[in-house]
Amino acid sequence: MRGLIYSGEAIIFLSCIIFSTLVANSSAGDTISAKQGLRDDMNLTIVSAGGMFELGFFSPGHSTNRYIGIWYKNIANRTVVWVANRGIPVRDNSGVLRINVNGSLVLVDGSDLVIWSSNSSSSAVNPVAQLLDSGNLVVKYGKEADPVNFLWQSFDHPTDSLLPGMKLGWDLVTGLNTYLTSWKSADDPSPGNYTTRVNRNGIPQLLVLRGTNVQFRFGPWDGVQFSGSSLSILDLSFNVFPVYNQKEITVSFDVVNSSIAMRVVLKLSGEAQFVRWSDATQNWEAYSTAERDACDRYALCGPYGSCNIAQAQLGKSICGCLKGYQPKYPEKWRLTDWSDGCVLKTPFGCGTGDRFVRYSGLKLPDTSRTWFNPNMNLEECESTCIKNCSCKAYSNIDIREGGIGCMMWIGDLIDIRNYRENGLDLYVRISARVRNISISLLVVLTVLVGLYVIHALRKRMRRIRGIVLLPQERIGTTENDEPYFDLPLFDVMLIAKSTNFFSPKNKLGEGGFGSVYKGTLDNGQEVAVKRLSKDSKQGINEFKTEVSFIAKLQHRNLVRLLGCSIEEGEMLLIYEYMPNKSLDSLIFDKELSKSLDWPKRYNIINGIARGILYLHQDSALRIIHRDLKASNILLDREMNPKISDFGMARILGGSGRITNTTKVVGTFGYMSPEYALDGIFSLKSDVYSFGVLLLEIVSGRRMKGFYDPDPNLNLLGHAWRLYQEGNLVNLISSAIVESYDESEVLRSIQIGLLCVQPYPEDRPTMSFVVLMLSSNIELPSPKQPGFFIDRKAQESDSSSSQYFDISLSKRLTMQIAPLS
Ligand SMILES: *[C@@H]1O[C@H](CO)[C@@H](O)[C@H](O)[C@H]1NC(C)=O
Ligand SMILES: *[C@@H]1O[C@H](CO)[C@@H](O)[C@H](O)[C@H]1NC(C)=O
Ligand SMILES: *[C@@H]1O[C@H](CO)[C@@H](O)[C@H](O)[C@H]1NC(C)=O
Ligand SMILES: *[C@@H]1O[C@H](CO)[C@@H](O)[C@H](O)[C@H]1NC(C)=O
Ligand SMILES: *[C@@H]1O[C@H](CO)[C@@H](O)[C@H](O)[C@H]1NC(C)=O
Ligand SMILES: *[C@@H]1O[C@H](CO)[C@@H](O)[C@H](O)[C@H]1NC(C)=O
Ligand SMILES: *[C@@H]1O[C@H](CO)[C@@H](O)[C@H](O)[C@H]1NC(C)=O
Repeated sequence: MRGLIYSGEAIIFLSCIIFSTLVANSSAGDTISAKQGLRDDMNLTIVSAGGMFELGFFSPGHSTNRYIGIWYKNIANRTVVWVANRGIPVRDNSGVLRINVNGSLVLVDGSDLVIWSSNSSSSAVNPVAQLLDSGNLVVKYGKEADPVNFLWQSFDHPTDSLLPGMKLGWDLVTGLNTYLTSWKSADDPSPGNYTTRVNRNGIPQLLVLRGTNVQFRFGPWDGVQFSGSSLSILDLSFNVFPVYNQKEITVSFDVVNSSIAMRVVLKLSGEAQFVRWSDATQNWEAYSTAERDACDRYALCGPYGSCNIAQAQLGKSICGCLKGYQPKYPEKWRLTDWSDGCVLKTPFGCGTGDRFVRYSGLKLPDTSRTWFNPNMNLEECESTCIKNCSCKAYSNIDIREGGIGCMMWIGDLIDIRNYRENGLDLYVRISARVRNISISLLVVLTVLVGLYVIHALRKRMRRIRGIVLLPQERIGTTENDEPYFDLPLFDVMLIAKSTNFFSPKNKLGEGGFGSVYKGTLDNGQEVAVKRLSKDSKQGINEFKTEVSFIAKLQHRNLVRLLGCSIEEGEMLLIYEYMPNKSLDSLIFDKELSKSLDWPKRYNIINGIARGILYLHQDSALRIIHRDLKASNILLDREMNPKISDFGMARILGGSGRITNTTKVVGTFGYMSPEYALDGIFSLKSDVYSFGVLLLEIVSGRRMKGFYDPDPNLNLLGHAWRLYQEGNLVNLISSAIVESYDESEVLRSIQIGLLCVQPYPEDRPTMSFVVLMLSSNIELPSPKQPGFFIDRKAQESDSSSSQYFDISLSKRLTMQIAPLS
């Protein structure tokens, strides 16, 4: 008897051990009941009946916090598709998930404090929580997995993943709205910055938002696909179910072969991706990403603007206005701030003869302010739209069967783009007074041709006039003057982001009061961003003065300042980006110098001369650059020179000379003798620097260098010696020996020597330089240049060397292209 009892106890004891071992090692089936909770410290999980999904505690990324989540059982990289206690982790492994008598799933920590609750409740008996093979965690009563028995389901509370069978959108009966929310970071599943929601205004559409700002719009469902995504629905492995009726406005999808894992995931960055697990690559592969190019950015081109990414490849603006519309603020528009969009050129006639222009291949505009009728055909749609002056455009709702239904845009037309394929038709209202496109195109062409002819004639005239008139006559550069504008302010964050937050990888160079970074704006435009260093002594007012001063300079041969940002102690200047870097990185490089043949170099010399002439006399201000040198000449895609770095430029006062003995700034070698020695600079100091630059471009050699047979000579001395020997051809860079035009080259060198005359009054003005370069006017004979002895020789002369050493290390230089 006693033995029996003993053995009975032993059996109970033994089965306890077996049970707890079983429990500890893996799962307790697919349910959690009132009796059996899920303990983290016992490493418990439950697995859906078909083995597809698993639920349990996990720690994301590098975090040690514990969360309840659901992941794919058979995917090695744990991919969590749902998290219960997103923002409220259990700090240790004392968490227990259980179901209480009222049918609420509750997560409690070691001190029995409720961390999270599903808040479901009913008087049902014996509620259980079950993980279904769809990945849905449900609380139910009764045995059947029938949705009517569900008290609660995780599918009603999605996190960042939409699984097959899960509905996104509005249950109009209960008022429940389900949407995806991105994680905060890979280590933190708390709600992040982005959501993907069904917007039920007008014709429902799927949006990605950041807070309340729309980032991306999938567009309305057109019967075959979301009109704003190029996701190919021809893929037969899944189906999409948009539902729009009295009870719900939702979208969901299913997968034809349920053993293939597919889901929509809203990533940290706000990209909504449709992904599928690949066993081959052991990775999630994207079918489509919502945001794929700049044109996908919501409302990039503003109201009545249309985005065409193909334009970017042609180097043109990706935003354009719809027919009959024009940019609201042309200057902002030109500076690629398209956000204000376009406005009507001519008001609508309203009933009196307005017409519609048909666009094809579009992403239809935002449908949140539309009126629609599924029973109307396109003709009825047109006649209804034309009668109502607030109707801006119309189209079919559904593209199947040749087009079904009518939708009319009552509000602004926003977020339109072109697609290469699968785009839709849109009929846009235009005023009767806008003439036929083909006619207006012809008119535009005629005008353009006319303008070109006039321009060419004027250019010729100027040239002829220039020869006849005095050298001081203004010649040939004002044609590029553009009206002044106020400098646009850019958002600091936007610019910071464009440079990868001033990543060292984006750094192009370093200047005296800041570094220059390459940035890529959201629209794809590349820019150079100069960031003034925080410890720069240059105050904000000085900075602003400088900015407004540079902003007023607009010339083809000056680098363009696109805007600036002044915020939170950050001071940024945004310039156009010059892909071919600076002149010094090309002409002095043995290999790269071959890319610049003589015609290109001649064009560069002429361009620089015109740019300086503009500074000296054609701009509203008369400006001395003071730091002309090869590294400050940037080259655009077509190798056109652009003068950069106005950090040291000065506006010329009445005397024509500025004395600045306290601080001699500039670059040795390019500095004229009177400036370097006496601190006096004038327009002629720039002419001197230009002369040095010209000789460098022709010879491919630096001002300082080793020159046979007299190593003490610098480039000027060397050129002067060859000139005296009548042997100038020997100065020419080997990179251009096959392409040079002898008379052009020899004239150029002689002009260069004239520019580097030691006395300012012996140097020509820039207008005369431009004239000499562009005509066959007889050239004066140069005298011996200034500073023709190399620096080494000069350094022994202590009285002059001090000027260089003090100032050079402190000079303020703005470098836009990389320093080679
Ligand atoms: C649970 O898993 C962790 C890590 O794998 C392990 O250190 C711990 O001993 C396990 N606990 C139990 C009760 O099996
Ligand atoms: C269950 O519901 C009853 C009545 O609504 C409530 O008084 C009770 O506190 C609930 N129990 C739990 C554990 O939530
Ligand atoms: C459940 O209700 C509590 C109290 O009203 C609330 O703080 C909590 O956020 C709710 N939990 C969920 C998952 O909605
Ligand atoms: C479903 O996919 C699995 C895994 O890729 C494959 O083995 C199976 O044959 C597929 N079933 C059907 C019916 O295509
Ligand atoms: C979310 O926004 C905040 C504030 O703008 C930002 O600091 C954070 O990096 C963003 N998170 C992600 C994942 O982009
Ligand atoms: C899954 O793991 C493999 C191998 O460790 C890795 O290459 C891959 O990037 C991982 N995929 C994901 C989605 O984390
Ligand atoms: C134009 O259509 C809108 C939207 O249906 C409506 O509110 C408005 O009254 C209409 N205007 C006219 C003049 O019919």
